Amino acid sequence: AGRGMARLARAARIVGTGATRVAARSGRTPSELMEGALRAVLAQASLRLRDLDGLLAVPSLSHPRFMAAHHIATKVGLLSKGGVVVRKLDTGGAGPITALLEAKRMVESEACQAVAIVAGDAVGGMDSPTFLERADAGCRPPHADESSPEFLRSPVIPHGYARCTRYHMDRFGTTREQLAMVSVLMSRCAARHPGALTRSPRTLAEVLRAPQVAPSVGLLECARRADGGAAVVVASSRFLERRGVARRGNGGSGDVVILGGGEASGPLHPPPVIDEEMFSCEQAARSAFTACQLEPEDIDFFGLYDCFPICFVRAVEAVGLAPKGGGEDWVEARYRESEEAGGALSPAKFPVNTHGGLLAFGAPWEVPAMYNVHEAVRQLRWTARGRQVERARRALVYGNGGVFSASAVALLARAVNE
Ligand code: CAA
Repeated sequence: AGRGMARLARAARIVGTGATRVAARSGRTPSELMEGALRAVLAQASLRLRDLDGLLAVPSLSHPRFMAAHHIATKVGLLSKGGVVVRKLDTGGAGPITALLEAKRMVESEACQAVAIVAGDAVGGMDSPTFLERADAGCRPPHADESSPEFLRSPVIPHGYARCTRYHMDRFGTTREQLAMVSVLMSRCAARHPGALTRSPRTLAEVLRAPQVAPSVGLLECARRADGGAAVVVASSRFLERRGVARRGNGGSGDVVILGGGEASGPLHPPPVIDEEMFSCEQAARSAFTACQLEPEDIDFFGLYDCFPICFVRAVEAVGLAPKGGGEDWVEARYRESEEAGGALSPAKFPVNTHGGLLAFGAPWEVPAMYNVHEAVRQLRWTARGRQVERARRALVYGNGGVFSASAVALLARAVNE
């Protein structure tokens, strides 16, 4: 019994989620959005600011700040007491999942009791030239002029993903239609989520008809630029036991355990000739499954990064829903089933991104992987209402930074009542 207690004391749990509304334009700064999300998560977890002894934040694009985590911690008054660990993490869109794994380490090895993770950005409110100038600068290969094979034209990110898309089409026979089906499936999921930006499902014809942004990438196949803030709190089981109130506030079995995860990196800029080595998502997923001694069949819900259809297709393969080179056929099979079902698949048949992902729920730069976590927590708490995967017990969440440059995967489980 003694050893059981010791193990329990070290376990890291997600005890709350909080977010602002995701909006096309909010008129708020990233700090305001982060603060709104932080207040919401504290309220949901029945915690006070002074219960936190850790804060992790990811950077914003619209209002970049020196030591952004310290900025927000100072702004909310967290640093008026000592003993608080504050860190900004930078793995691009993988940030919220990297932070989840870092928070687990802080609780398990650094004796933190409650760590908040906050993310917020206002890229929806940026005018297009400013957004593109900053987004392009982050991902454009330096010193590459138009004659160089590395060169990526603006918009650099969609063109970077287009290069990977081309590789996948040439190597595995992925069709233009199969890519577009990803956006249709995401919009059908988003239409079920009251908070999603995309309110009505798109048809395949609509997606294919949309203006082309880069080769084989249409406007409706780009992460949907938005404003939003989102947060979670990760706490140690020992702290939760002492604060029985928080557990009851969550309905007792409402906590979610972070089982473990894996991370991997690829080049910051896609190489001129794409190869299998650059897709870090596979390696991250493999590490996560090995660390937790689980297999794809053990997972009930998948929160997959889908900034562009190729990212989703590669993720479907990386997490074992389909074999390598079979992701697009898996997507097409789900699309055909959803057509037969009259437009939307039941969560049992499509237990993936039930909120709509980056393509349809909304994508405030580095925030969206946090929405994957929020949806996973809802699924594991059995509170996803019309989107619930029945009796979901384990979830996988994946975040991607840059162009497959950083991948982080975490496996989560519904806590078992002691
Ligand atoms: N679904 C529905 N509508 C969409 C959409 C989508 N997926 N994407 C854009 N739209 C809509 C916009 O909301 C906008 O609607 P309104 O006119 O009603 O406001 C309209 O299409 C035009 O969009 P923009 O205003 O953005 O148009 P633009 O011409 O200025 O730019 C674009 C077009 C270059 C494609 C730009 O939208 C873009 O760059 N999008 C991709 C954003 C991006 O790269 N995000 C990061 C993804 S990678 C990642 O997530 C990893 C990381 O590390 C951050």
